[in-house]
Amino acid sequence: MTVASVPGKAILFGEHAVVYGRPAIAVPVWEIAAQAEVLDNPGAAPGSLLVEAPAIDLAGELAALDPSHPLPRIILDTLYALGVEHPPPLRLRVTSTIPMASGLGSGAAVSVAVARALSQHLGCPLEPSRESALAFAVERIHHGTPSGVDNTVVAYGLPVYFRRDNPPVPFRVGAPLHLVLGDTGIPSATSVAVGGVRERWRENPAAYERRFDAIGAIVNEARGRIESGRIADLGPLMNRNHVLLQEIGVSSPVLDALVRAAIEAGAWGAKLSGAGMGGTMLALAPKDRMDAVRAALTRAGAARTITTQVGE
Ligand code: MEV
Repeated sequence: MTVASVPGKAILFGEHAVVYGRPAIAVPVWEIAAQAEVLDNPGAAPGSLLVEAPAIDLAGELAALDPSHPLPRIILDTLYALGVEHPPPLRLRVTSTIPMASGLGSGAAVSVAVARALSQHLGCPLEPSRESALAFAVERIHHGTPSGVDNTVVAYGLPVYFRRDNPPVPFRVGAPLHLVLGDTGIPSATSVAVGGVRERWRENPAAYERRFDAIGAIVNEARGRIESGRIADLGPLMNRNHVLLQEIGVSSPVLDALVRAAIEAGAWGAKLSGAGMGGTMLALAPKDRMDAVRAALTRAGAARTITTQVGE
C-alpha cells in the first residue's frame, strides 16, 4: 500500500491580489491533511480502479465516474502524465481532515495527495513541481482563474513566497510564528469570491489596482520581517492587509468579529485568510497568548480553531 499525506495551507499575506500578479506568502498547515491510499486489487478485472471518498459520498469504478469531477479528473490526468495506459487493478481511498470550502486548501491537497500516492505506487514518483501542475489544472476547471498559490504551497510543503507563473521561492523563517486559525464554519466557494472581486475590478480597475499594489507592498515588507525574525512587527501588516481585503469586498461581519476578538485577546495582528466571504481567519500571537486567542475566537463564534507553528 502507498500512502501520501498532504497538508492544508494558510495564506499569511496577499490573497486575491496574487490572482492579479502580485506576490503572496503562504505556509503549509500540518495539523490538517488530505490522505490518499493506493493498494493493489488483485482479484479485480484488468483496468479496474476502484475509488472511494466517503467524505464526499463518492465511490465506484473510475470508468463510471463523471470525468469532470475533481477526483476522477486528477486520477485520469495523473495516469496520463505518467504515460500509464494499463495500470494494474487498484483501489484508491481518499480521506481528509481539512475542512472543505474554508480557505484551507482542501481541494489542492486532495489533488496532490492523489497524484503523489498514485505516482509512487506505480513506481514513477513525481517532483513537487509536476504534482503542483497537475493539481493546478484541476483547480482551473473548478475555480475559474486561480493563481496557483494553493497547489504550490501544499505540493512543496514549505513556506513560500509566490508570484503566479513563477516557480515558488522558499524563504528563511528567522523566528517561529505562532498562528491561530479560526474557521467561521461558513462555507465559501473560492470561485465565487474571486469572481466577485473580478466584477468589481472591472467596474473600477484603477481603485482595485491601487489596492492590489498596496497588498503587494505589504507582502514584500512581511517577507523581510519574517526572514529577519521580526515577528511581532508582522502584526500591523496583517491588520493593514485585512483592511484592504475589506475594501475589495471579501470580508464579512463574522470574519471581522473574529479578527477583532483575536486582537482584543492579545494577538499581534489578524486577518482573513484565503478567499474570504466565510471560511477562515488567522491570528499571529505571542506564544503565551495562544490559548487566550483560541478561547476568544471560540467565544466569538468560531466553529473550530487550529493552532500551528511556522518555522523550527
Ligand atoms: C485562495 O486560497 C486564494 C485566492 O487568492 C485565490 C487564488 O489565489 O487562486 C483568493
